[in-house]
Amino acid sequence: MRGIPGYRDTPTRPWHPDDPVDVAEAENFLRLYHAEHPEAGPVERRLREVRAEIAATGTYVHTGAELTFGAKVAWRNASRCIGRLYWHSLLVLDRRNATTAEQIFGDLVTHLRVAGRRPGQIRPVISVFRPAQPGRPHARVWNEQLIRYAGYRQPAGGVIGDPRNAEFTAAMEQLGWRGKGESFDVLPVAIETPDEGVRLFDLPEDAVLEVALDHPEYRWFSDLGLRWHAVPAISNMRLSVGGVQYPLAPFNGWYMGTEIGARNLADPARYDLLPILAEELGLDTSRDATLWRDRALVELNRAVLWSFERTGVKITDHHTEARRFVAHLEREQRAGRRTPADWTWIVPPMSGATTPVFHRYYHEADERPNFYLDPVARDLGRLGRANEPPRRCPVRAPAHRTVVLRPPVPADLDLLLGAPVRT
Ligand code: ARG
Repeated sequence: MRGIPGYRDTPTRPWHPDDPVDVAEAENFLRLYHAEHPEAGPVERRLREVRAEIAATGTYVHTGAELTFGAKVAWRNASRCIGRLYWHSLLVLDRRNATTAEQIFGDLVTHLRVAGRRPGQIRPVISVFRPAQPGRPHARVWNEQLIRYAGYRQPAGGVIGDPRNAEFTAAMEQLGWRGKGESFDVLPVAIETPDEGVRLFDLPEDAVLEVALDHPEYRWFSDLGLRWHAVPAISNMRLSVGGVQYPLAPFNGWYMGTEIGARNLADPARYDLLPILAEELGLDTSRDATLWRDRALVELNRAVLWSFERTGVKITDHHTEARRFVAHLEREQRAGRRTPADWTWIVPPMSGATTPVFHRYYHEADERPNFYLDPVARDLGRLGRANEPPRRCPVRAPAHRTVVLRPPVPADLDLLLGAPVRT
């Protein structure tokens, strides 16, 4: 039996940068847009226009309204996301005019500042940069998220920082970046453009909202020196709208506590803090059956939620978010739509069955618009390098150079373990 693309082990539908825009997909999207926006008038004229544009150029240009709708629906269709109740409120920043690494970096900094401007209500934001032109190289950000912590492999074994990013960190060091060597050093943003090659930029401090972690009862907890950033901004997924591919379209929401407390800080292949916490808590770790891991996990997650709430930074817990997701399913049903969802991602990584999302199955489908993680982008995000697949029509690559820059000050504008890998 063949699986659904993007669910469990079935890869997503492949995209090659030389592929022309699929006319049928463009038509489906435009029909969807007009069906959900009656005020935009009948779709026929726009269909004729777009068919002609694709015939002439191999692609077409979205209107601002189409792009905004496309990005929102990509979120609505993101089968792994439990936070989709608010898909409609996504702030879409149209950055199709930015081309140089410097301009792109300025827009990324603005994105983070806009998303975190009011920490109490982090805004879901997406910045959409130029779409790929069939057969031409495109700009990309190598990092999997705009904000990630370095992981420094130690000569004696072990990693200081986030082991997930150890390869990426080593690649950044090879490119000339130097971190402090501490547990929560924010990595530079690696921006690659066709003209400039890859360039590294350090994020200014005010673009990186962070929360130091402590615990509502255990005083010693703050001595662990733990922290996490407040804005998860995925930066290596391709936004696919109506057959047009936007390889650079970073987007963010706000955190659900378990992402930090039950995965980033707890996974054995990440910060692996449960044994340390169990020790501090004086738990009996001699046998699995004392449930020391489970008990430490609860305290770690209480600390995450409590610290964010106490410092006034938006976060949500998995019980609330699960209830909201069920509300989302019902609301979508009333709108006559089925909600594609992947159980293995929707169910939270702790206390699954205490939340309503556990006790049911979901409609599994690969609907577009959507976000896709291409293999090259995944490798760049994890390793800081990738074996590019051979191009079907070779282009002359300009000479690449690598420079580490101080951040320019941008104009301030008034966002795997076993089976499924969840990040
Ligand atoms: N799980 C990822 C992380 O811990 C973030 C994925 C997106 N999460 C979100 N709440 N929008 O960094």
